[in-house]
Amino acid sequence: MTVACEYRPGLEGIPATQSSISYVDGQNGILEYRGINIEELAQSSTFIETAYLLIWGGLPTEDELEEFKHEIQFHRRLKYRIRDMMKCFPESGHPMDALQACAAALGLFYSRRALDDPAYIRAAVVRLLAKIPTMVAAFQLMRKGNDPIQPRDDLGYSANFLYMLTERVPDPLAAHIFDVCLTLHAEHTINASTFSAMVTASTLTDPYAVIASAVGTLAGPLHGGASEEVILMLEEIGSVANVEPYVDQCMERRSKIMGFGHRVYKVKDPRATILQRMAEQMFEQFGSDHYYDIAVKLEQVVADRMGSKGIYPNVDFYSGLVYRKLGIPTDLYTPVFAIARVAGWLAHWKEQLNENRIFRPTQIYTGTHSVPFVPLEKRHSAQDRDMYANLITP
Ligand code: CMC
Repeated sequence: MTVACEYRPGLEGIPATQSSISYVDGQNGILEYRGINIEELAQSSTFIETAYLLIWGGLPTEDELEEFKHEIQFHRRLKYRIRDMMKCFPESGHPMDALQACAAALGLFYSRRALDDPAYIRAAVVRLLAKIPTMVAAFQLMRKGNDPIQPRDDLGYSANFLYMLTERVPDPLAAHIFDVCLTLHAEHTINASTFSAMVTASTLTDPYAVIASAVGTLAGPLHGGASEEVILMLEEIGSVANVEPYVDQCMERRSKIMGFGHRVYKVKDPRATILQRMAEQMFEQFGSDHYYDIAVKLEQVVADRMGSKGIYPNVDFYSGLVYRKLGIPTDLYTPVFAIARVAGWLAHWKEQLNENRIFRPTQIYTGTHSVPFVPLEKRHSAQDRDMYANLITP
C-alpha cells in the first residue's frame, strides 16, 4: 500500500475529520464552540444550554431549552440494578474505572440500536447527560459506605450534582462556578478521548460503548488525569520557596510539569485564564488556599524558563484548585471532566454518524518478513529463538 503522507507520531497536525463543532486557535489562545467564543459562553450561558448548542448545532429557544432541561431532569435516576452492580465495585478502585464500567453497562439496559432514528439519538443524549453525574456521585457515597442519594428536581444540573456528591445543597456561587467549569470542559476539538469516541462511533456501535471508550481514554495522566496530578504536584512542592528548585529539578530530569503545555495552545489556554479568575472569586468568598500561591509562582517560573517553547498553563492547571475549594475529592476531578466532556463526545458521535466512514488508518511496518515458525522444542530461550530467526531471515 502506498503511504499518503509522512508518519507523524501522535498524528500531530494530521486532519482526521472535518468538524463544525469547535475551533481552537492555539497561537492566539482562542476557543469557540459552534463559532461562539468560550469567554462569552462562560459569561452568559449555562452548561446545559452549551451542551444543547454543541450537540444540536445552535442555541436553543427558551422552549427548547426548557424541554431539554426537563428531559434531563426526568432521567437523572439510576436503575437499581446499576446501583447493585456498583455495590460490587471495590471502594479502592479509581472512580474513572467505575464510571467507565457504568457507562458501558447502560448499553445492557438500552440495547436497541437504531442509529438512524432521531428519537433514539435524542434518548441516548439525554440519558447520558442525565445519568453520568448521578453515577459519579453515587460511587463517591458508596465507597464511603453510604447509600447514594436521589437527585432533587428543584435543583439545576450543577447544584444537583454537588448536592448528590456532598449531601448538602451548595452555595449558589459554588454551583454557578461549577457550572462554568463544566462549560469550559465541554468540548475541545479532536483530543485523545474525542478521537477515541469517534473511532468507536465509526463502527456504528451503541452510544454507551462510545462514551465508555472515551471515558477510558480521558483517564490517562497526559489527558484528563492531569488536574488530579496538578494537586498532587502542588502538595509535593509544598511551599512557594520550593517552586524554583522543583522546576529546576524537572528540567534536569526532563520530566513534565503537570498542567502545563498543550499540543495546540502555544500561549496560555483561554480556559486556564477563566478558571484562574474563578479560583480567585472563590478564594475571596470562601477563604484563600495556600496552594494557589504556589500555583501562581509556578506559572511565573515556568513562563520564564519555558515560555519560549510555548509551555503555559493548560485547562487542568487551575481547575483542580477550584474543585478543591468546592470540596470535590482529588480523584473525582477527572470524572468531573468526563461529566462535562460527555457533551462534546456526543456532539462528535452525532457528527460522525452524519457522514460515517469507519476509521481505518494505515501503518508503516517496521518488522521483518518470512520468519520461520520455530517449533516449541527448539525454543529454549528468547536468545535461541532470536538467533534461529536471524539465521534464517535474509
Ligand atoms: N513540562 C515540561 N516540559 C514540557 C511540558 C510540561 N508540562 N509539556 C511539553 N513540554 C516540552 C517537552 O519536554 C518537549 O520539549 P523538547 O522539545 O525540548 O523535547 C516540548 O515541550 C514538546 O512536548 P511534547 O510532549 O512533545 O508535546 P505534546 O504536544 O506531545 O504533548 C502534552 C502535549 C499536553 C501531552 C504535554 O504538554 C504534557 O505532557 N503536559 C503535562 C500533562 C498535562 O498537563 N496534560 C493536560 C493536557 S490539556 C487537557 C487535556 O488534553 O486533557
